[in-house]
Amino acid sequence: MRNPLSKLVVDIQPSGIRKFFDIVSEMKDAISLGVGEPDFDTPWHIREEGIYSLEKGRTFYTSNAGLKELKVEICNYLYRKHQLQYNPNNETIVTIGGSEAIDISLRAMLDPGDEVLIPQPSYVSYLPCVRLAGGKPVIIELKVENQFKLTKEDLLNAITDKTKVLILPFPNNPTGAIMEYDELVEIAKIVEEKDIFVLSDEIYSELTYGRKHVSIAELPGMKERTILINGFSKSYAMTGWRLGYAVGPSNIIEQMVKIHQFAIMCAPTTSQYAAVEALRNGDPDVEMMREAYDQRRKYLIHAFKEMGLECFEPFGAFYVFPSIKSLGMSSDEFATRLLKEEKVAVVPGTAFGDCGEGFLRISYAYSIENLKIAIERMGRFVSKYKEI
Ligand SMILES: Cc1ncc(COP(=O)(O)O)c(C=O)c1O
Repeated sequence: MRNPLSKLVVDIQPSGIRKFFDIVSEMKDAISLGVGEPDFDTPWHIREEGIYSLEKGRTFYTSNAGLKELKVEICNYLYRKHQLQYNPNNETIVTIGGSEAIDISLRAMLDPGDEVLIPQPSYVSYLPCVRLAGGKPVIIELKVENQFKLTKEDLLNAITDKTKVLILPFPNNPTGAIMEYDELVEIAKIVEEKDIFVLSDEIYSELTYGRKHVSIAELPGMKERTILINGFSKSYAMTGWRLGYAVGPSNIIEQMVKIHQFAIMCAPTTSQYAAVEALRNGDPDVEMMREAYDQRRKYLIHAFKEMGLECFEPFGAFYVFPSIKSLGMSSDEFATRLLKEEKVAVVPGTAFGDCGEGFLRISYAYSIENLKIAIERMGRFVSKYKEI
């Protein structure tokens, strides 16, 4: 029999995040600080709206690009938060999570051989999605000494005449780094000068602490060259509803709708009705969750300092990214031993790119009680190996 598989797909490595969780799920008393998923339930009034839509018999496909009502609310939200004006009719598409939006925006923009700049450490799906779209990933290593921000020097060094798209992954998973207005101005200048496009993954836009999230699309000349991606998973604790969106120039959105139309048809109808409610009345819930995350963030930064591990202060998302370089172990070794010896699961920084070596991703989307137990165990582990 011929080999039924595509070489392109076979060559793609599975995500390094999941490896530990299969082990954790079978280990008694193990605590996971690994998953990037809110520990809160979806707020009740949002769930209720989903239930109500089912009771009303709203069980049909919506239009391909999404329910008109939802697209209007998405545009209202982006105007309210960022003074960005998008047309719900041709500049907005509702997708299956931010995940689908990342995939189809790359597929709509790339021709074989086009280079896509991927700052790392960053979310695991960018690289495979670029490859699956026929593009060539070009990695930019973000550095702890720059607080894991993208600098204009790093960007300029990576651009060639084949560069087409820059992925801008802020607030960042796994580092928690954010980009502020003045830093984005520097990036925007280069983007315009070099005539490239930006895929701005703003899925954690609501989760910043003491700093307001700025979208690069707000900067002069950038809206025309930016696909802005966001969704409901993180800000409204709606991971399982699988809902996200992209806004951007109508010529790109039009092609994205085409791929979405043939591959997906439309995002889940129930979720779309629930999301309308999230955008209309969900601000207080977001605020409550943000405050809880912020408390946990402060607790962890303090705890890692006490443990003697260097930990850069993140202002976004729900992750901290402490360095374990002082222990002389690789990230993978640390995570494997920690799980075996103390039953705490964390993700090695290398799951997010080679430059994540020497770091761990710790998620604080877990209750403070769980965090405290995990930190006590980690503290014991670190002091044991510090002495060796
Ligand atoms: C940076 C980033 N982008 C996108 C996603 C995808 O989220 P979803 O598809 O649930 O919207 C995630 C999920 O972890 C993420 O961390």
